[in-house]
Order: sequence, then C-alpha cells, then structure tokens
Amino acid sequence: MPDSLDVPPTFDVIVIGAGPGGYVCAIRAAQLGLKVACVERRETLGGTCLNIGCIPSKALLQSSENFEEAAHKLADHGVLLDGGVTLDLARMQARKGEVVSANVKGVEFLFRKHKITWLKGEGRIVAAPGQGAPGQVAVGEETHTTRHIVIASGSESIPLPGVEVDEQRIVTSTGGLELTAVPGHLVVIGGGYIGLELGSVWRRLGAQVTVVEFLDRIVPGMDAEVGKAFERILTKQGFKFRLKTKVTGARAGNDGVTLTLEPAAGGPAEELRADVVLVAIGRRPLTAGLGLDAAGVALDERGRVQVDAHYATSVPGIWAIGDVIAGPMLAHKAEEEGVAVAELIAGQSGHVNYEAIPGVVYTWPEVASVGRTEEQLKAEGVAYKSGKFPFTANGRARAMGDTDGFVKLLADAKTDRLLGAHIIGPDAGTLIAELVLAIEFGASAEDVARTSHAHPSLNEAVKEAALAVGGRALHI
Ligand code: FAD
Ligand code: NAI
Repeated sequence: MPDSLDVPPTFDVIVIGAGPGGYVCAIRAAQLGLKVACVERRETLGGTCLNIGCIPSKALLQSSENFEEAAHKLADHGVLLDGGVTLDLARMQARKGEVVSANVKGVEFLFRKHKITWLKGEGRIVAAPGQGAPGQVAVGEETHTTRHIVIASGSESIPLPGVEVDEQRIVTSTGGLELTAVPGHLVVIGGGYIGLELGSVWRRLGAQVTVVEFLDRIVPGMDAEVGKAFERILTKQGFKFRLKTKVTGARAGNDGVTLTLEPAAGGPAEELRADVVLVAIGRRPLTAGLGLDAAGVALDERGRVQVDAHYATSVPGIWAIGDVIAGPMLAHKAEEEGVAVAELIAGQSGHVNYEAIPGVVYTWPEVASVGRTEEQLKAEGVAYKSGKFPFTANGRARAMGDTDGFVKLLADAKTDRLLGAHIIGPDAGTLIAELVLAIEFGASAEDVARTSHAHPSLNEAVKEAALAVGGRALHI
C-alpha cells in the first residue's frame, strides 16, 4: 500500500457511500487522525438505513402501533376514547419525514464535527492505490487522490421478473413507505423482514394483508419454532399467508393489480387481486458504476465484493464493508465493519464477532435472535440443551397485556456455553441485547440464570429461560 508517496494524496481514506457502514467508517477513521472524505450521491447522508430503510420504517411502525393501540387495545386497560379514533395519514407521513430529516442532519453535523469532507455525487474508482501512486476516485468532473478506498455502496431491492415496479401500485419498500392512502388489499411478495414490517404498518392502519411466500415458512433464516409461532401470531392479527406459492406475473390496471400465482412446486395458476403490491424478496449488492471491473476488484458468485477476513478486496488499498459484502444485510453489522476497517487501515486490529450480531424484526410482538438456531446446531451435529419460557408466565407481560411469545435459549450440552438466543415477544429487540452481550463474553446459561434481574420486568423471562436450560425454571 502506498504509505510513502512522492506527492501526498489529498486524503488518507475515501469512503464511497454514506450509509451506516460508510459514515461510521468515516467517523472512526477521522477519530484515529486520518484525513477522510466520503462520497455520497444522495441529497442527504445516512444511506438506505436513515433515508428509506430502518428509520422511516420504524417511525411508521411506531405511529401505526400507536394507532392500533388507541383503536383496539386501550379499552382493555379501561382507557376509553369515546370520540373514536381517526387516522391522519398525511400527518403520520409528515412526522416520518421529520424523523428522517433529524437523523440525516445529525450525520451531517457529525461530518462537520470530525472535519470529514462530503464529496457530493457519484463516486467511481479511477485507479487503485499502488506502485508509489495514490488511488484516484472521480466524483463528477473532479478526481481526488487517496491512500485507501473503502467501498460501502450498499444494496438495492431484488426485482421480480414479470412484476414491474412503478412505486405507485407495485412498490418496493421505498414506495411502500410513501403510500398516501391505506390500500384496501395489500399483497406482499416475500415473508421476510420488509414484508412483515411494512405489512404490519398497513394492516394496523386498516389494510387487508396477504403475504405470498415461496418457501413453506416465513422468516426463513430464523429459528423454525420462532418462525411458526410468529406466523400463528400474525395470522391471529389478521395477516393471510400463502406459503409455498410463487408469483409469476402482474397486470396493473385502473382498479389495481391482478397477480398470477402458482404453487412453488408447479401446478394450476390462479389470480389474486390487490390494490397495492409490495415486492420484498430480498436485496442485492449495489456495485454498478463503481469502476470495480476496471480496477480489478473481484466479486463473488452472488455479485458481492469479495473480501478477506480483514475487509481487504482482491486489490491492495481497496476495502469493502456493509451490504455490498457477504453476511446479513443489517445496519449494525455494516457499522461494526465500518469501525473495524477504519481501525485496520490505521494499523490497529479491528475485528467483528459475527456470532454476536443480533437480528430483530420490529413487528409487534418483536422477533429477535442472536447466534445459532436449533436447525443449525442439528445440521452441525452440536449437542445442545434448550430452555424456554413463555411471556404468559411473566408478571410484567401480563400487566402490559402483551403475553404472546417466549424466550428460547440454546446452550452447549457439555459446557453450558450459550450458543443461540431467540425471542418472540414484547420488546424482544431490546431484551436480546443482554444475550448478545452474554454470547460476546462467552457466558454460560448458568451465568445468565444466576444474574439478578429486576422485578417485575420482561427481562425476567430471559433469566427463567436460562434457568430452564438447567431444568429449574421457577415460575412455571
Ligand atoms: P447503504 O445504507 O445502502 O448505503 C450505501 C450508500 O452508498 C447509499 O446512500 C448510496 O446512495 C451510496 N452509493 C452507492 N453507490 C454510490 C456511488 N457510486 N457514489 C456515491 N454514492 C454511492 N437494518 C437494520 O439493521 N435494522 C432495521 O431496522 C432495518 N430496516 C430496514 C428497512 C428497510 C425498508 C430496508 C430497505 C432496509 C433496512 N435495514 C435495516 C437494512 C439496512 O438499511 C442496511 O443493512 C444498511 O443500510 C446497509 O448499510 P450500508 O452502509 O452497507 O449501505
Ligand atoms: P428477506 O431476505 O428478509 O426476505 C425475503 C423473503 O422473500 C424470504 O422469505 C424469501 O424466501 C422470499 N422470497 C424470495 N423470492 C421469492 C419469490 N420469488 N416469491 C415469493 N417469496 C420469495 O428480504 P427483505 O424482506 O426484502 O429484506 C431485505 C433485507 O433488508 C433483509 O434481509 C434484512 O437484511 C434487511 N432488513 C432488515 C430489517 C431489520 O433489521 N428490522 C428490516 C427490513 C429489512
């Protein structure tokens, strides 16, 4: 890598992409004393996550949950809204915009604070750093020189052949976050994170929601027992599921969209009418226009930038992180990698523990998991013990009126070391943090079971599940 150059480059690091991977990498690199620029073509910083992903979806999830609570749940608590509850969707959407705006401006402030240069526009690698010459990144008419280049260009929705997205009636998550009227019937293609979160938003606001899923289960990456319980709970809420089914075409007309469905294994076709169709069958790495081919940066068999354990691509001086490389497409995973690669570039030993990256579906109840699923442990031939505790037996969950779900822990049969944790229930996404830390510290189920948990709290269900691993849960 060109650490000694005749003419010093303008920057030590140029990061391409200002999503959670890129902007966090830029901040960490600046903290370590490096001169940093970040290229972003969007009008605002923060990437998919802050602009069209995590943040706007969570704003709508919160607002729609508040609406559903007011309309259907508060009466159980003796809180009566006799005037009735009405929806101001325009206000709800405007609030979402305000939340996004505050967040993206926050990143701009952090860039100013850390003296990070925002190069506005489309970034393209012109030359890799090497042979005494700096790397070059073109942004618009200008070319900037740098010692290191970090690719953090993120991902985009996977299109479904025969189902053409217009972001009005046939939408990706981007259009699905912007609807100006509640659809009568929303058909979601794909029973994963986006389908179930956005499906929940629009169901709570009054839509009938049908999820068409190719496989025989929803959230296929999650623990199967949790997936089954999740499907049951969502069905009780009004979701309709068409599993083992594929969509082979879509016809958009004046009165909505007609989808053609077939059994996944083949069979007779049928039609399904929708007012809006959400395509949510996964995301793919975004690599077009970056000049990777010319620079010689290798991609893997799924079009992701290939990196080694230290985020180095096939070209010295060019690194890659986040959704554009392998691994779960999650904001916090991208952030951890952003920190690690900045530290590696600065000569430190940045590292990410992939065994301790949580995944959370922010529906209600929430679904959260970390580490191995039961299916993975079986496939790997690992001997394990499991402990489960339902929220029906947790005092706080009863007080809240939120007793759906359970905590399930998986521990090594011999050493008792925690290998996986899976929660479906109220605030599962917050509860999982304790277990992420436990796995990070190499804790045993016994360690969690012997830790005092405040009473009455939802976290006591975690303690009880840990006790259950040893066959000694107290409250069931
Ligand atoms: P991105 O956030 O995609 O950022 C990449 C940036 O690079 C973009 O802003 C893009 O404009 C820019 N870029 C690309 N190419 C160029 C170029 N040539 N020049 C200049 N700029 C370029 N994850 C979670 O952990 N929790 C959630 O709750 C969550 N919710 C989500 C909800 C939705 C609807 C979606 C779509 C995703 C959600 N995700 C969530 C996933 C999360 O958004 C991604 O994992 C995360 O944004 C990846 O970060 P990144 O930095 O790798 O890429
Ligand atoms: P996903 O991978 O979570 O789910 C896609 C689903 O579509 C899977 O169940 C898959 O079996 C199904 N599928 C694939 N092809 C299909 C087809 N042709 N017909 C019917 N079903 C099909 O992808 P999703 O929901 O699009 O989200 C993309 C990614 O964004 C997620 O994997 C996650 O990494 C991230 N995300 C994270 C969130 C969070 O952390 N809370 C929220 C939203 C997105």
